[in-house]
Amino acid sequence: MTDPFSAPFGSLFGDQMTIANLADGTYAYSGAAQPFENFSMHPGTHVLHYGSACFEGLKAHRQSDGTLAIFRLDDHVERMRQSIGRLRMAVPEADLIRTMIVDAVEANASFTPDAPGSLYIRPTMIGTTPNIGAAAVPSDVGMLYVICSPVGDYFAGGVRPLTIYVETSIPRTTPQFGMVKSGANYVMALGPTLDAKAEHGADQVLFATGNDITETGASNFFLVDDDRLITRQLDESFLHGVTRNSVIELGAAMGYEVEERALSVAELSEWASHGEVFLSGTAAVVAPVGTIVIGDEPVSVGDGQPGKNTLKIREALTSVLVGDSPDDHGWRTAVKG
Ligand SMILES: Cc1ncc(COP(=O)(O)O)c(C=O)c1O
Repeated sequence: MTDPFSAPFGSLFGDQMTIANLADGTYAYSGAAQPFENFSMHPGTHVLHYGSACFEGLKAHRQSDGTLAIFRLDDHVERMRQSIGRLRMAVPEADLIRTMIVDAVEANASFTPDAPGSLYIRPTMIGTTPNIGAAAVPSDVGMLYVICSPVGDYFAGGVRPLTIYVETSIPRTTPQFGMVKSGANYVMALGPTLDAKAEHGADQVLFATGNDITETGASNFFLVDDDRLITRQLDESFLHGVTRNSVIELGAAMGYEVEERALSVAELSEWASHGEVFLSGTAAVVAPVGTIVIGDEPVSVGDGQPGKNTLKIREALTSVLVGDSPDDHGWRTAVKG
């Protein structure tokens, strides 16, 4: 098998998948994984024209004792149901998505790399009505499926200080769709992200429309110092990261005073002179930020290197992921493999 640490994140796949077809409001699942295969589609399929698609991203981790566990399975299932509902497609029972994820992971278990690698799990929903006139009609037929990808680091180069560009005018998505994990959101953020990479060497864009810092194109956003852990309060405008919630819970238990509130670019700029900044996400885990580009100005976060609080929180999270810490919150689901 190709080493997941030398392949781009998400470019390798397990050889099994689970599929349930939606018709007449009902999902039909065979009850078992099947060989990973290509789809054949009508060229007028709804998802290809009107974007009726959403997905989830979660991970199964090889535990220190050799077993396998999925992290925060039920939270990802709930978010998937919420996304499907926002696309106005029939919302599957939580149990169905849960079973399809467990079956897919167990069937692909042998592809799981050892930590810090993991098996990235991608439940996906697409609307498949063959009708190019259905722009204002939800897809009443569809396909729910789960595929798995052995992964190493999301950011090439492992844990290194990232550069983020602060975007204050172009929004990532629309306010009502921010909390939906739909492909359309990502393609909308692509242009600003590529531009920030080309012009400022940025790894990610931090969206701060109207001076309101929310999230980056693929992760949530935190400030931390020796005492405080700060992140934007939840509303519908951005993704409610499961890792964000895990970091808050772990941080509070570690003694940080947690603040969920509005964050301005001026505060971020001032914070960089004495505090730390990091990103959180299933793919990113906890990723230190070393430089913030505001306007054309690169601002160093502290000495530009990963800070001690960031690394402490990252360590607390990874030890829960791989079973080195007790599962106080019931976040790990043991699976066969
Ligand atoms: C836009 C965006 N925000 C935040 C996150 C972090 O969410 P989570 O921690 O649930 O992976 C992600 C990654 O999934 C994302 O794509």
